[in-house]
Amino acid sequence: MSRESKTEIQQRIDFLSAEITRHNKAYYQSDRPEVSDAEYDRLLRELETLEAEHPELRLADSPTQRIGAAPAEGFTSVRHRTPMLSLENAMNESEARAFDERVRRLLDTKICVEYVGEPKLDGASLELIYRNGVLEVGATRGDGIEGEDVTANIRRIWNIPLALQAGVSTQNHPTQKSDGFRSAETRKDAQTELQIFPETLSVRGEVVLPVAAFERLNAERLGRGEEPFANPRNAAAGSLRQLHDIDVRRLGALEFRAYAVAEGIPSHLKTQAEVLQQLECWGFLVSPRFQVCSNIDAVLEFHRSLLDVRNQLPFECDGSVCKVNRLDLQRDIGEVSRAPRWAIAYKFPPQQETTQIENIEVQVGRTGALTPVAKLKPVHVGGVTVSNASLHNQDEIDRKDIRIGDTVLIQRAGDVIPQIVQVILAKRPASSQRFHLPSRCPQCDSPVVRLTDEAVTRCPNVDCPAQIKTSLTHLASRAALNIDGLGEKLVHQLVETHRVRRISDLFYLTFDDLLQLERMGEKSSEKLLAAIDAAKHTTFSRFLVSLGIRHVGETVAAILADEFETLDAMIDASSEKIQSVEGIGPVIAESVATFFAHERNRTEALRCLEAGVRWDRSDSKKKTEAREGPLAGKTFVLTGTLPTLTRDEAKARIEAHGGKITSSVSKKTDYVVAGEAAGSKLDKAHELGVSVIDQTELLKLLDA
Ligand code: IVH
Repeated sequence: MSRESKTEIQQRIDFLSAEITRHNKAYYQSDRPEVSDAEYDRLLRELETLEAEHPELRLADSPTQRIGAAPAEGFTSVRHRTPMLSLENAMNESEARAFDERVRRLLDTKICVEYVGEPKLDGASLELIYRNGVLEVGATRGDGIEGEDVTANIRRIWNIPLALQAGVSTQNHPTQKSDGFRSAETRKDAQTELQIFPETLSVRGEVVLPVAAFERLNAERLGRGEEPFANPRNAAAGSLRQLHDIDVRRLGALEFRAYAVAEGIPSHLKTQAEVLQQLECWGFLVSPRFQVCSNIDAVLEFHRSLLDVRNQLPFECDGSVCKVNRLDLQRDIGEVSRAPRWAIAYKFPPQQETTQIENIEVQVGRTGALTPVAKLKPVHVGGVTVSNASLHNQDEIDRKDIRIGDTVLIQRAGDVIPQIVQVILAKRPASSQRFHLPSRCPQCDSPVVRLTDEAVTRCPNVDCPAQIKTSLTHLASRAALNIDGLGEKLVHQLVETHRVRRISDLFYLTFDDLLQLERMGEKSSEKLLAAIDAAKHTTFSRFLVSLGIRHVGETVAAILADEFETLDAMIDASSEKIQSVEGIGPVIAESVATFFAHERNRTEALRCLEAGVRWDRSDSKKKTEAREGPLAGKTFVLTGTLPTLTRDEAKARIEAHGGKITSSVSKKTDYVVAGEAAGSKLDKAHELGVSVIDQTELLKLLDA
């Protein structure tokens, strides 16, 4: 190898080592990461590979030889009796299979090795030391050798036993609770025989913050103007490591899940599964859903099934952990510097990534709402490439102080649209400026308006080409008039060339109008005219959808069409009258009445009819059919401020799916939807045992 390239490699190693050490500090000591986990893993992997290829270039204090960061100032440090190791990662199936092959090579066996599959809970690792059955010390992992003494704090975690329960592991399988998480019920199996606890017992596990509690905590922090946590893990680590003005409620929300015994394993226990069962007998909650797998294929199956339910689990879970089940084989296989060779973490694809905001564009929607959209440097996250993220409105931008040029943490969970979690302030360019929505509409230059009690900024010009374009695209969409061939490009041309200045103009287009458009020949003009003509013969319900009235989608339109039958009857109906229709709540009623109260909307609708838009009466849907929504018969109470939906929007969506909104919580309430600063209704819900859900869960219900 040439000297140059060797220097280059050394430089890269130096750089990576320094970066990783810096990230370790940000992650472990400040609970405020500067890069996504995926990016961190990539840096670490690159360094590991370079060091493996050039061992002589490895720095003496390389971060590959350590785990985490040394204890932070302010905490007493505790030396772990045995190092707290980390796990090697597998990123895909072939790496997981390679792990199995290595295990079998090390054991010199051709037959299958039995494993235990556990979820890799994403929290903060904790060691608990019990002396003769009594909790003595709780310590964070720190750098794996020395951790921080957090005993006082962890005593507040509800499910950490202060004293072990007497109980001997039975070989029975622990009960499976309805949420799929094993409970500690087996501890009730306590045997009558005299229990002697190990003199020293070191239990290791993960401190996690349930996702629902995480969202509540962040909403509270935002309410107080504090920076929210990026994810439940940082929130858990931050809560665990509170030094001053300790908030005991935050500790109360944490949960400990035990996954290993590092010292004091009773000699009759032979496997990891038995260790977990013994932990349950002592009174711990253990790795939820753990499973004995007879070979690597079963482990992969376990991994896949966990991935399927990933977003429904109460805790954040970033992969599965595969451990050799037999303890004697674990000892035979041993460990390398920072990780055991008998276990591997098989990671899920990342749901969070870091990227840069290249620009912020302002889009104008059908209702004139100005929506800021971040144009991102494309990044692969949650299985897709993401290059846009909605910033919703000015309040959202202000709250997160999002600026052009910022490096941001973005996330995409399941089918959820990508969102910006937070700005990484450490990477903000010095010249950056706060972002404000323009004071004039970017499309028609009208001065924009923002009503005092609304988060949205709107262009008030009903003739704004942007509004006409989105309205037209909506009208042509499948749920509305379903006009074949009228896509966004054509809509753009029609509006830009002033052939369509208002929606109804579409039905007055002539062959010549179309022929003059760029790239429109005789054939395509004829085809489009025929499609528009065909679309004129529709149903009342579809026509109502096509008008683009807020909150009127297919379900609501079908109910309205069924009840009113003619456009005149619909136009004449008061808000009260509309609200009296079964399945229509006050928000929708108000929206429909307000729409038709505008002269322009009425004329537009009638002008469409004059141009030949028509429907047969019998086309209206049957009442019963329309009123069946996925939430039919369910009663909801809203409390607090939701992250992105306004109260009206939430109400409208629930109603549109057949649900009912009531104002007070009772035993009959099916769900309480709690947002930021939720008050007494939330307490009442807890008191009555009513399900409490957040916006994410609500959206899932609506999606179902
Ligand atoms: S076993 C010697 N099991 O993942 C084995 N770790 O990257 C050490 N983790 O620091 C860990 N769930 O905090 C194990 N079921 C599980 C786990 C788990 C989460 C964490 C643990 C460790 C990190 C390894």
